[in-house]
Amino acid sequence: MNNPEVVHLHDDTSSVVITFQGTDLPVVAHWGRTLGDLDQAALRGLVDVVSWTNPNNAPDLPVPLALLPDAGAGYAGRPGLRGHRGGEHFAPALTVTSQSADGGVFRYVASDEAAELTVTGTVELLPSGMLRLRHAVRNDGTTPYSLEGLETALPVPSHATELLDFTGRWSRERAPQRQALQYGSWVRESRRGRTGHDATIGLLAGTPGFSFRDGEVWAVHVAWSGNHVTYAENQVDGLPVLGGGELLLPGEIVLAAGEEYESPWLYAAYSGEGIDGISAAFHRQLRERSLRPRPVVLNTWEAVYFDHDLARLTSLADTAAAIGVERFVLDDGWFRHRRDDTAGLGDWYVDETVWPDGLTPLIKHVRSLGMEFGLWFEPEMVNTDSDLYRAHPDWVLGPRPGVLPPSSRNQQVLNIAHPEAYAYILDRVSSVLADNDIAFVKWDHNRDLIGSRVHEQTAAYYRLLDELRSRHPHVEIESCSSGGGRIDLGVLDRTDRVWTSDCNDALERQLIQRWTGVFLPPELMGAHVGPTKSHTTGRVHELSFRVATALFGHFGIEWDINSATDEERAGLQASIEYYKDVRELVHTGVVVHSDHPDPAAWVHGVVAADRSTAFFAYVQLTTSTQNKPRRVRLPGLDPERTYRVSFDAPAGRPGLTQRGPGRWDTVELPGSVLSDVGIQLPVLEPEQAVLLRLR
Ligand code: GLA
Repeated sequence: MNNPEVVHLHDDTSSVVITFQGTDLPVVAHWGRTLGDLDQAALRGLVDVVSWTNPNNAPDLPVPLALLPDAGAGYAGRPGLRGHRGGEHFAPALTVTSQSADGGVFRYVASDEAAELTVTGTVELLPSGMLRLRHAVRNDGTTPYSLEGLETALPVPSHATELLDFTGRWSRERAPQRQALQYGSWVRESRRGRTGHDATIGLLAGTPGFSFRDGEVWAVHVAWSGNHVTYAENQVDGLPVLGGGELLLPGEIVLAAGEEYESPWLYAAYSGEGIDGISAAFHRQLRERSLRPRPVVLNTWEAVYFDHDLARLTSLADTAAAIGVERFVLDDGWFRHRRDDTAGLGDWYVDETVWPDGLTPLIKHVRSLGMEFGLWFEPEMVNTDSDLYRAHPDWVLGPRPGVLPPSSRNQQVLNIAHPEAYAYILDRVSSVLADNDIAFVKWDHNRDLIGSRVHEQTAAYYRLLDELRSRHPHVEIESCSSGGGRIDLGVLDRTDRVWTSDCNDALERQLIQRWTGVFLPPELMGAHVGPTKSHTTGRVHELSFRVATALFGHFGIEWDINSATDEERAGLQASIEYYKDVRELVHTGVVVHSDHPDPAAWVHGVVAADRSTAFFAYVQLTTSTQNKPRRVRLPGLDPERTYRVSFDAPAGRPGLTQRGPGRWDTVELPGSVLSDVGIQLPVLEPEQAVLLRLR
């Protein structure tokens, strides 16, 4: 290879080596384990040995996989840039005109004069250890250029042979699925107009059998809250690739002269130490925000639903404050005409019939009890039974004027890309926030977009959030979308937590939080203790299990605690105290999972950054084949340090049926013993958990 330019972005964990051949688009020669400080000669050697070998019956010069897979150069896989100018220039011949590498950032510009297109690409290795990449394309011509896709790709080595990604549905978000990475494409598209319950939050490729603690793993995530695609592709003549970008609908992006489209970020992470290493990078990235200690929440939804009655809510607030709740969130039902879910969306004025004196009496009461007040909105939606729709039927998003998409939860989508609709919503939400003492907004989005333009709507949604945040910088915002239907790093740039799922069944929550938590740190995942009998599944769980589950998130309650027994309230109060004590550790520490040998039980925890303390849960999901539990090994500890392990049960010990002795007394053991030998726990029944605190 003639004098390749080589750029090496690296930290202690990973390396990305980017190279050029002449003016061809930049190519990633290595993405994976860190190579440390290599000099240019060694880097050129690396590029040389991985680049040359040309198969028969192929272009005469090798066709490398570019960061923007280049159909014009002969790449036969999924092209990075797809579009055309009146049917021409669908495979532009892009040549690099400039490039720069500065610190952890690499940028390049490429253009095709005949096609009248300029592309810019950015690759950043962030302090968190994450990579992020994006491209932009500009129309330099005078005629329109129709863009169909602009997606970035990264190669993974051939020893990454397995894929892990996610699907899900309402109340069962982020169910994992695994398969071999075979020849062909595994394309995960989300066309729901929101991130989607079934969208894959990430796509992981890894070495055979990669697990939470073992194996090399490469992961990508598309930071976009609208339609998007995440894919793995394995071609016979190259390395497997992981890539993704926004999924553009036909005609959605037509660039006029001089116009540019910029893709969302593709985030990527490498781990040489299993899935937990991927989480470490995502969590570090998402922790680059300053959050106050996460207050204990009481959300009124499963407590009162639409029954907004001042006396009932005031009394609920009293009970909440008495047991230690710090934030009281009034959910759906407070605005005009909203007596059930058939009417009112869009009419963002406090309902005078239900709240004759406005929200002030409740808010004042909540504040006087020392709690913050939060309020639910669903700003991008409208019921056809609303004053807003009656006045502005043309503000509804649909396939064409006058045609409504099928309704969903009795509602339609407001076209917030419409300047007047946008201004109305901005004004309404902003006024309610300005007129009331509100610290928190639960921002919901309860349906898919059907037959509608999604790109503009998503961009307008981000604009709206940005504007509201700049006007009300002290208001925290939660991203909710029928539970966890809008969770991605695009929305998390603008929000402070997510509503992980509408399912408060602790068993389901174990699964949902386990896999959402691969990407999100615990403090960003809303996790509420629900009623004894779950409203979504009908399952009954002991309080101790519900608490043990919610403690590994941003803890809250979603239950009519006035109808709970005194014993339950006392258990909750003790659990809230316990949460306040452990939250700093859980919300700043390193999340770890044991590759526990019993599929019927999970072991997960959080270890302080300096490894001085830790907090674990052993969770019995179903009955085990084994008669007594497999020994529990606690990963991530300092092997040299001695830990005092207490078996904590703030909400009371799980009701055990075990007759024989079960150890509950505190033990002191070195980290090496706890991590490698493990400890024996009592026999648990399904849907029970034990908490272990290490100090
Ligand atoms: C969605 C949310 C719930 C609740 C209801 C209110 O389903 O996910 O938590 O806020 O809307 O209508």
